[in-house]
Amino acid sequence: VEKGLKDYYKDYFKIGVAVNVRNTGGGDETELIKKEFNSITPENDMKMVSVHPSEHVWNWTNADKIADFAVKNGIKLRGHNLLWHSQVGAWMFKDSLTGQNVSKEVLLQRLKTHITTVVNRYKGKIYAWDVVNEAIDDKPEVFMRNSLWYQIAGDDFIPAAFTYAHAADPNVELYYNDYNESNPSKRDKIYKLVQSLLEKKIPITGIGLQCHWKIESPSTDDIRAAFAKYASLGVKLQVTELDITARQQRPRGETPDTAAAYSPEMSERQTKRYKEVFEIFRENKKALNSVTFWNVSDRGSWLDGRNMFAGGAAATAAPAGAPPAGGPPAGAPPA
Ligand code: XIL
Repeated sequence: VEKGLKDYYKDYFKIGVAVNVRNTGGGDETELIKKEFNSITPENDMKMVSVHPSEHVWNWTNADKIADFAVKNGIKLRGHNLLWHSQVGAWMFKDSLTGQNVSKEVLLQRLKTHITTVVNRYKGKIYAWDVVNEAIDDKPEVFMRNSLWYQIAGDDFIPAAFTYAHAADPNVELYYNDYNESNPSKRDKIYKLVQSLLEKKIPITGIGLQCHWKIESPSTDDIRAAFAKYASLGVKLQVTELDITARQQRPRGETPDTAAAYSPEMSERQTKRYKEVFEIFRENKKALNSVTFWNVSDRGSWLDGRNMFAGGAAATAAPAGAPPAGGPPAGAPPA
């Protein structure tokens, strides 16, 4: 059988990708996933709003399809995510009769029901959960994001979420996951949060580094420093949402210039960047146990919007991270 990225990296870490049901039902992308990857993460289908759209309604259709695909093909499955300020139904925070915010006790009880139910359902199928997603603020002078979770429950929702998840499945790995993870001020806050959880003996396995990066930033120095700081806590690390799309170089929402994005010059810069960052990942193989690309290819990236490439020249562009025909990928470790 032809080697895929996962095979080149078998002595380093798992190689994963974010998927939707449409990627797993057969066709080119399904074949690509089976060849290149040994871990998948549902891009949206296990989020709160997807599986638990209102208090007494659970919707497992898509999540189950992805889980079945993983099990059937011997691909590891990451769960994403158990708590986030986004893609959560407004019902979670509201009293259905008064429309007012619920009390902290009620919110934590709802969280417990949610986490217990979801973790239980995929027990033994999922090896790692993103338990809390993006709870820290980006502004250097503010620690916690001012979400409804925080407004109602203060700092307590974070330890509570990990405790509920661990109680439901004591064997699953549990991660705190965030973006701008290589920015020095945010990095230090993530470090502090995780350090305080460890001190309180909260069951946490490690830190998920989303790694939504551009070609020029963050700098390799900042990336190296972030990995070193997180690893110094003695926890496991995962790269959970890596993307370095060419079109991300322009401000989001601007009219795409497909020709410029996929010019040979841009491809070359993108390839060089992937090579650089995979070098850093390999340096960290002791702590780092998986690297997940966010989307199967730049063509379907959330950053570029959907269907932009329909019929366009770039519809045939190589997927990010996929090996060019006839040789190992840019980031592959030396043979
Ligand atoms: C994104 C998905 O890719 C989009 O399809 C969706 O519309 C919004 O969410 N951080 C995360 C992911 O943790 O869940 C986000 O995924 C990207 C940013």
